[in-house]
Amino acid sequence: MILITGGAGFIGSNFVLDWLAAGTEPVVNLDKLTYAGNLANLASLQGDARHTFVQGDIGDRALIERLLAEHRPRAIVNFAAESHVDRSIHGAEDFIATNIVGTFRLLEAARGHWSQLPSDEKTAFRFLHVSTDEVYGSLAPDAPAFTEEHVYEPNSPYSASKAASDHLVRAWHHTHGLPVLTTNCSNNYGPYHFPEKLIPLMIVNALAGKALPIYGDGRQVRDWLYVSDHCSAIRRVLEAGRPGEVYNIGGWNEKTNLEIVHTLCELLDELQPCANGQSYRSQITHVTDRPGHDRRYAIDARKIERELGWRPAETFDTGIRKTIEWYLAHPDWVASVQSGAYRDWVAAQYGAGAAERGA
Ligand code: NAD
Ligand code: DAU
Repeated sequence: MILITGGAGFIGSNFVLDWLAAGTEPVVNLDKLTYAGNLANLASLQGDARHTFVQGDIGDRALIERLLAEHRPRAIVNFAAESHVDRSIHGAEDFIATNIVGTFRLLEAARGHWSQLPSDEKTAFRFLHVSTDEVYGSLAPDAPAFTEEHVYEPNSPYSASKAASDHLVRAWHHTHGLPVLTTNCSNNYGPYHFPEKLIPLMIVNALAGKALPIYGDGRQVRDWLYVSDHCSAIRRVLEAGRPGEVYNIGGWNEKTNLEIVHTLCELLDELQPCANGQSYRSQITHVTDRPGHDRRYAIDARKIERELGWRPAETFDTGIRKTIEWYLAHPDWVASVQSGAYRDWVAAQYGAGAAERGA
């Protein structure tokens, strides 16, 4: 069996669902259930004996030690993190606590467990750390995409905390021999994406007749990857990745934020036209830019293709259509995640007028 952390969040829950759909190996899913964790994402697993959910913190070393001793997982996959750049700008404390201190405690518990395993289990054990392309910083428009050798230049409190966690993982391999794998992935999108991030925020706001807030000029570039492709890449790295190695994962899909939002509006115009006959584009508005906003991310995913034979299955066109269709088919999920705490966040980030239509 494997131990997943952060498996009630966006990518983690997709990973757990895909894992159990693809095979029979059980999962213990440890998640603190912060604002971003949602057991509704895992509702389809109710009664499935292969999934054990434990509410808890990766920084709780005694809990992790107990889980490792009790379940003896052959691998740990660490998704747990504070993940939203804008929140890290409002306050970084939780990012330091979970992404740095939490990863450290998880590594220490894993090391204690791994060091006492019989030799065959010790050889087979893996600690897979899920990280981000943001640790590499911002690319110039014509610069080559990030390879695994790119220098670390994190620019936000979030990316700095993820960079620190990557360094800890690297050091626990180099110094202690822990068989780690690190994956650095580009922007994901798909089902169960919490509507504080660009794509789900725009879908949810468009359907609610609210403004679609584009930071600055909207010409920032991200490399988009459908979440199930990220999950298949992680499964492949876990299966065949070489301990101590880093694998960059990306979608070969560089797009500006403006392109993304215009595509979303066009698809929504087709799939659920606005009652007033106007295009959703009329709700687009430009708002104050994110401080320290990275201009461009792009992943060079040739290493994982060359060594492990992985490539994304979805194009942006197929993935974004599936995503919008999922949001349209799940209004209850969308309503359930828009709690009072969510509304407080939207007001803090976008101001009290955030509910109004764009210009
Ligand atoms: P998310 O914010 O949707 O989910 C994070 C999950 O971790 C939540 O369920 C939360 O409850 C849990 N969590 C937070 N602190 C915890 C703690 N101390 N102990 C246990 N659980 C805790 O994030 P996501 O978008 O699913 O990202 C998952 C991982 O992938 C993160 O490590 C993130 O840095 C990385 N990543 C995300 C993207 C992306 O585009 N979303 C891209 C590359 C890498
Ligand atoms: O690159 C991987 C990273 O992608 C992950 O490590 C992070 O966890 C994940 O949140 C994501 O970070 P970004 O900052 O790129 O994602 P976000 O969805 O917040 O923003 C995407 C782009 O859209 C970015 O240029 C900022 C812009 N944006 C975002 C929001 C929420 C807007 O223009 N308006 C918005 O309201």
